[in-house]
Amino acid sequence: MNQALFSYIAACPTAFQAAAHTAALLEAEGYRPLRETEEWMLEPDGRYYVTRNGSSLIAFRLPKGRPAGFMMTAAHSDSPTFKIKENAELTGENETRLSVEGYGGMLCDSWMDRPLSVAGRAMVRTENGVAMRLIDLRDNLALIPNVAIHMNREANNGTKYNFAVDMQPLYGEKGGFRRRIAEAAGVAEEDLLTHDLFLYNPQPGVEWGGYISAPRLDDLQCAFASLQGFLTAGESQSAAVYCLFDNEEVGSQTKQGAASTFLRETLERICDALGLTLRTMAAGSFLLSCDNAHAVHPNHPEYADKNHAVRMNGGVVIKYNASQRYATDAVSAALFQTVCEEAGVPFQRYANRPDMVGGSTLGSIANTQVSLNMADIGLAQLAMHSALETAGGADTAYMVQALKTFFGMTLRAGGDGTYQLR
Ligand code: CO
Repeated sequence: MNQALFSYIAACPTAFQAAAHTAALLEAEGYRPLRETEEWMLEPDGRYYVTRNGSSLIAFRLPKGRPAGFMMTAAHSDSPTFKIKENAELTGENETRLSVEGYGGMLCDSWMDRPLSVAGRAMVRTENGVAMRLIDLRDNLALIPNVAIHMNREANNGTKYNFAVDMQPLYGEKGGFRRRIAEAAGVAEEDLLTHDLFLYNPQPGVEWGGYISAPRLDDLQCAFASLQGFLTAGESQSAAVYCLFDNEEVGSQTKQGAASTFLRETLERICDALGLTLRTMAAGSFLLSCDNAHAVHPNHPEYADKNHAVRMNGGVVIKYNASQRYATDAVSAALFQTVCEEAGVPFQRYANRPDMVGGSTLGSIANTQVSLNMADIGLAQLAMHSALETAGGADTAYMVQALKTFFGMTLRAGGDGTYQLR
């Protein structure tokens, strides 16, 4: 399972490749693409998917009869990185650098002294108008060099990084960047119009001592595991919905992020095609917001809340927060606990120390667009937002098993605080 995860991560250097690669895996399983620019004709027992911006994707599978509700997962396709600016080259006296700005909250030092590659998308001029091309250069092309300890004796005492000065990567060929991108896009340099390109760590994932280390585990581990669960689940009387949203790392407030209309409009279109209303369907639906969690750190156990510390290889994490930055409540946790018990998968409960502000994620943001029963879950990992993250070797399979079981179940909400999930 972890080798399959590493292949998925390698195929998904940015959100654009994540959406395209996921679409290809869905098509191999008989899922048909829908377009937002068209009205949808849907058939019972049908399998479909739709993308927005080329970086977010929603797939769904309809039951044979009237769906009891939507059983959904959501993960994110983006990871913290550096975005390459439109005028990409910074030409200095001796060396050429790439001009970058931060995307999301990365751990800067982890990005230094390692070969980096470039991926994303380019917009090109064609005979038929403007078209999008996926770009993945794959080669080692850039590197952000540290300052030697001899020049910064304070390096080990907490270094402050200035993005405009310290985080601009060295790039090999002067004047060659645009040519390289045009070549990868299959057009002449003058037909390369614009781009959304990012640095990424091309290092393959590794298994070691019961752990896994790979780039972008947050959140491709959950994106992969929820996809496997979605694809392998048995029949249910609910409609199964798999969501992959871009831009979680920068607050989700984009046309394709979790705060956008993408999920609500997709569910509305499904309801319209089936002669249902979203308001009654939503009331009997359930969404699992899947994003990784912080494992108790071996060198810094004091950062964990003692009673809610989660560990790698301890199973699926249910995340709680009183301020509802995590959407979990007693109802959704009880339902997900039922799923784990049915699946025979261990689960553990996470909450931040009450004196520490934690992260937020997709679920509660999506809830402002379409209101659903929702739990926040994930897998325990170390070094979140490092260029190389570490997680438990057994946990990917636990998540797949839990979500496979979840997607095979039917939820019937009584509307009076009672729920049947079987
Ligand atoms: Co995340």
